Formats: sequence, C-alpha cells, structure tokens
Amino acid sequence: MLKRVGLVGATGWMGALIGQALLSGNRLRPEQLSCLNRSTANAGYAAYPAVRWAANFSELIEHSDTLILSVRPEQFRDANFYCGDKLVISLMAGIPMKELAERTGASRIIRAMPNAAAEIGRSFTPWFASPETAETDRHIATCILETIGTAQQLDDEQQLNFLTGLSGAGPAYIALLISALSQAAMNIGIPKEIALKAATATGVDAGEILSKTNKGTETVIQQYLDYDGVIAAALKAAEAGGFHASINNALLAASRKVSDMESQAD
Ligand SMILES: NC(=O)c1ccc[n+]([C@@H]2O[C@H](COP(=O)([O-])OP(=O)(O)OC[C@H]3O[C@@H](n4cnc5c(N)ncnc54)[C@H](OP(=O)(O)O)[C@@H]3O)[C@@H](O)[C@H]2O)c1
Repeated sequence: MLKRVGLVGATGWMGALIGQALLSGNRLRPEQLSCLNRSTANAGYAAYPAVRWAANFSELIEHSDTLILSVRPEQFRDANFYCGDKLVISLMAGIPMKELAERTGASRIIRAMPNAAAEIGRSFTPWFASPETAETDRHIATCILETIGTAQQLDDEQQLNFLTGLSGAGPAYIALLISALSQAAMNIGIPKEIALKAATATGVDAGEILSKTNKGTETVIQQYLDYDGVIAAALKAAEAGGFHASINNALLAASRKVSDMESQAD
C-alpha cells in the first residue's frame, strides 16, 4: 500500500514521531522512506541506515509518492515545496487547504492534526481531504496516521481548525485543570507536594476510568448529581462559576488564533 514516503521535517518533534512510528511499526521499510531537514542532523534514525536523507526538496520529491509536511507554518511559507501530482499530507496547523494547493501545486491534499499523545502511540488525529483525493489516497493517509494512534476523517475543514485547539492541545487543558485543583488545595494549606499528588492522580486516573468503563461523561456527571453529595456540591458550584462557558471561550479563542494564522499568508 505505502510505496515511497518523503518526510519534510523528519527530525522535528512531530516529524520524528511519525517517521519512527512508520519504521518501528513496519508500515514502511527503511529504503521506502526519504527524509529532509535543513541541518542535515539525522538523530533518531541511527537504527535505520537504509533511510534516504535527501540533500534538498527536489531530491526528496524524486524518491517519494507521498509527501508528509511536518515543518512549522512559517518555515513552510518561507520555503518552496512544489509537490506537483504527489499526494501531500500536511500536519501543519493554520495552513488552509487553499494555501496548501497554491504553494505546493498539488491537488491531492490531506490536512491532519495529530496531538501530543503521538508520543505514547495514542494521538487522536482528525483529518480532512481535498475532493481531488482518491480512496487509495485516503487509505494511505489513514495507514500513516494510525501509526501514531487513531485517525478520524472529517467532512468539513472548519471542524479541523476547531479540533486544532481541542485535541491538538494534547495535555494542556487537563494540565490546567490539575493545576487549578492543586492550587485550590494549597489555598487551604495542604502542602504543595500532597496537593499536586492528589490532583495529578485524580486527573490521570479519571482518563483511565472513563476509557475503561466506557460509561460516557454525561452519565458519570449525572451519577454524581443524582447522588447529591459532596461532589454534586462541587460540580454545581463549578457550573455556577461558568465552567462550561469558560471552556467554550477557551476553544473559541483557539479557533480565532487558527484563523489569524491562516490569514497570515501573503
Ligand atoms: N506541537 C504539536 O502539538 C503539534 C500537533 C500537531 C501538529 N503540529 C504541527 O507539526 C508541525 C511541526 O511541528 P514541530 O513541533 O514538530 O516542529 P519542530 O520540532 O520545530 O520541527 C520542525 C522540523 O522541520 C525541519 N525544517 C524546518 N524548515 C525546513 C525546511 N525549509 N526544509 C526542510 N526541513 C525543515 C526542522 O529541521 P531543521 O531545523 O534541521 O531544518 C525540523 O526537523 C507544525 O506545523 C505544527 O503545526 C504540531
């Protein structure tokens, strides 16, 4: 299925996760992968001497059927990555399909947004495909993205931009919640170390419990509200304090930021 893949930004944080997952998961033989960066460093690929390191983009494209673009948006705008009739998979935030098509000359394009859980092989990666992609192209994208977790096709590019600020945030919101929980504990005099341990365990275990029991968050919340005890009091106070509204505002702010990034194209 996967023939030859060219990875631009192969040594970056996200590029290396994808590159190494493709190789270690045996989705790709090392000789099928060509990599590119500017510094010529190839850290992380020592175990795969057959991987090709291209000297420039033209050389990369010569040896690739599918191009994965994993550079930062501003680096993409400064470079000239003409991809012609190749399949392009962009992992970049804030570079819309229209701009990708204009700058790369490609029409078969897939925009994907992995998250930090790629580090543990559990990225939830939404993706959106241009209408010119064929079923085999979308299959190739799924095959590549599933090396770092699960992939979810979307039928609207705006949804991808919104999810950039949601799943793309990785651990950010849960880290914020854990920080707020531990701060509240410290406010009443609980030592920092204990406060952090309690809040972190609560946050980390919650994810595990929710995914294992598969009850759904609404059911879990309703069970606490129906019990009408200590936690119901806390949940009602959080809601009265604008908890949902605050999260909604956070995601709208992220979405506006993505729009700002998109409008920075010259
Ligand atoms: N961070 C996240 O949570 C996340 C999540 C999903 C998607 N993304 C997206 O993933 C992309 C990469 O982010 P990152 O955090 O992995 O960035 P990064 O760690 O800075 O990596 C950038 C990579 O691109 C290479 N590079 C830069 N300019 C280049 C050029 N002109 N030609 C060839 N290679 C070039 C860099 O190597 P040299 O310096 O050696 O050239 C490096 O390997 C971004 O567009 C981001 O929006 C990030």
